Amino acid sequence: MALAGELTRETALVKPKARVFKPVDMPELEYTPGLAKEMAPLYEKVKNVIPSVEWPFFAPYIHAINRLKKERDAVILAHNYQTPEIFHGVADIAGDSLQLAKEATKVEASVIIQCGVHFMAETSKLLNPTKTVLIPDVKAGCSLADSITGADVRLLRETYPGVPIITYVNTSAEVKAESDICCTSSNALKIVESFGVDRVLCIPDEYLAQNIAKQTDVKVIAWKGHCEVHERFTPEELRQYRKDDPNIVIIAHPECPPAVVAEADFSGSTSGMIDWVKKNKPARVVMVTECSMSDNVAVENPDVEFVRPCNLCPHMKRISLKNILDSLVYMREEVTVDPLIAGRARLAVERMINLKN
Ligand code: 13P
Ligand code: SF4
Repeated sequence: MALAGELTRETALVKPKARVFKPVDMPELEYTPGLAKEMAPLYEKVKNVIPSVEWPFFAPYIHAINRLKKERDAVILAHNYQTPEIFHGVADIAGDSLQLAKEATKVEASVIIQCGVHFMAETSKLLNPTKTVLIPDVKAGCSLADSITGADVRLLRETYPGVPIITYVNTSAEVKAESDICCTSSNALKIVESFGVDRVLCIPDEYLAQNIAKQTDVKVIAWKGHCEVHERFTPEELRQYRKDDPNIVIIAHPECPPAVVAEADFSGSTSGMIDWVKKNKPARVVMVTECSMSDNVAVENPDVEFVRPCNLCPHMKRISLKNILDSLVYMREEVTVDPLIAGRARLAVERMINLKN
């Protein structure tokens, strides 16, 4: 039986009508003096993170994308790891995984362009089954999402009968469908404790699970998945930053190994890290996370010096202005979720969103 407000399998099986989009021409991408003038205020904002030599290439794309968005009734959701020309140039909503999932429930436009990785686009589709969700590069994956399958979760349920299964939002819809609830790095502790039991499974990010376990009495059973970006940071590297500058502030994402987080002054989700910098305004900070985020935050925090270790997420970096424009012109790549799993996967995401403090 479905709980109040939860979707039943029957509602999940209602297939949206296929939408037909009229073709549009690929816009001219010329950097004319008129365009340069029109785009000058935006360049003024991002000039410290986008070299002037790159701007004549980016500006026509940004202009064309923002015009086409209106024509297509589209909204662009961008993760904090997107590059500054996307984050500051074309995103309507930017944020961490939880914020993007929450914002996806409020979208009024009929088309969502997800500038992030595939599981994020799937989450948007789960929450907007009747809207068209596009991802500019369908190969934008995630090492965490790839580390576990639905069959693995079914096996875990057999191995640990009765133990709640929490899946990180960085998973496929198939994996979400097998779990009791989702979490992100910003609400994982709250969700682990919400069951009121003495042990839970928190999968697939081993390091996130270990970092959460340190903050609670609940036994957190992990899986051996890792983020290929955050696992590369080492405690030695962080100690070297402090040796070089004893006043430096270090903040780290909880997908980093616990020994790395232990060296940091603060640990939080990408938006948690951004808010921390805005609030505390450190003179010099190193954000131990994906590389583009420091650029994006630097734009709004000109008085903070960012030391930038550059670990790039190759999946996030598959998204570019060029393929965002292609998405809008050709209405591709459409993200769909098998209706047989969509209902249960949506439930896991909605339970997370609806969880009260
Ligand atoms: P958050 O934005 O939720 O902190 O997640 C980080 C991440 O790695 C997303 O892929
Ligand atoms: Fe996945 Fe890590 Fe890239 Fe995030 S940064 S999308 S967790 S591989």
